[in-house]
Amino acid sequence: MVYNIGILGMGTVGTGTVEILLNPTGRHPLLTSIKIKKIGVRSLDKPRKITLPPGVITTDLEAIVTDPEIDIIVELLGGIEPARSLILQAIAAGKHIVTANKAVIARYGDEIYTAANAAKVYVLIEGAVGGGIPVIEPLKQSLGANRISSVMGIVNGTTNYILTKMTTQGTAFNQVLSEAQSLGYAEADPTADVEGLDAADKIAILSSLAFNRRVKREEIFTEGITKIDSVDINYAAKLGFVIKLLAIAQAGDTPNQLQVRVHPTLVPHNHPLANINDVYNAIVVEGDPIGQVMFFGPGAGSGPTASAVVADLLNIVGVLFSSGKTEVLDPLLSCSHQEYCEIMPTEAISTRFYARFLTQDVPGVIGELGTCFGKHNVSLESVVQTGCQDNVAEIVVITHKVKEGDFQQAVQEIQQRTAIIKMPSIFRVL
Ligand code: HSE
Repeated sequence: MVYNIGILGMGTVGTGTVEILLNPTGRHPLLTSIKIKKIGVRSLDKPRKITLPPGVITTDLEAIVTDPEIDIIVELLGGIEPARSLILQAIAAGKHIVTANKAVIARYGDEIYTAANAAKVYVLIEGAVGGGIPVIEPLKQSLGANRISSVMGIVNGTTNYILTKMTTQGTAFNQVLSEAQSLGYAEADPTADVEGLDAADKIAILSSLAFNRRVKREEIFTEGITKIDSVDINYAAKLGFVIKLLAIAQAGDTPNQLQVRVHPTLVPHNHPLANINDVYNAIVVEGDPIGQVMFFGPGAGSGPTASAVVADLLNIVGVLFSSGKTEVLDPLLSCSHQEYCEIMPTEAISTRFYARFLTQDVPGVIGELGTCFGKHNVSLESVVQTGCQDNVAEIVVITHKVKEGDFQQAVQEIQQRTAIIKMPSIFRVL
């Protein structure tokens, strides 16, 4: 039996996917049942890294998604449109979908999975989060016996690379970003990565799978890495932390509530995520009864992401192979939740904070800070003043776990004090 696929997009991941499919020797034997019927591209003239079978390449993407001979569409265009419309058209035409498009799934998952369930087709997304790291299928299947309490990770390689270089070389954000762009690690427009938007798309997907609820992407609190100063990286190191961009989803106060957020975080040196460096990704899942499990590996790139895409193809082909055209979707592969969760407002979340103050070097300043924090139920874990220059003292505090709303009120009050010159940075602490 041979299953025909149509691939939309022949960029980095598309090329990696075709390379695997055209060279099945030594890989899973089911790969020989997959035939590339069409590849849709924007331009036929663009030079390609690989030689494609004759007659395969076309610019008519709509013809691919409606081709009656194609069983599975692999969407690797990226971006929202035309990817979303083509996926919906393909589903309407009864095709299964494999996509690595986290932006579309995070924003239009409801529309896409509702259509897919009605049409009895699969939409598999292993490549959308963590590149080559198998994490989607483990959350859907292998960890299904667990009550998940937390999913958190480093899910953006570009920002992890930038933070690693800032930490190890002491280089400023803008300089590392330029270097990362010239090496091809960062996009020419780095906004989605450095502002945390890509990580927010990914945690929307992970949290939805881990907690069996739909998550509204626009409700996810998102803060990127552009305001991280080397001064804070150095203080963090002295205090036993490393700064990482974490995407976090945790159970909330009630069964339908979740905390979902993306922000720079001071991670203790002994935490498993503290040692994930360069472009690598890692996701730590906590559940009952498994405890803690970490998925680690290459979070992006042609080969790794193609590995995930082809794994999804194998899953669909495996189901089709064993049961023919299915009337009922395999619940382990399809999306079975429809309810939305309630995302907790950030003010209600409890976490530790790091804050750096520039103050006048006068008697009683540290006392004043302590009094303001205490008035708002913010208890301090440590207070550090390393010196002073030109009568300006630099004071760094780390709080105990406190309600974010209480911390923000204390900060507002502190900023009114005449002895406080500036509050350059506030970060959350794991
Ligand atoms: N831009 C992403 C990253 C890779 O830097 O991790 C694709 O998800």
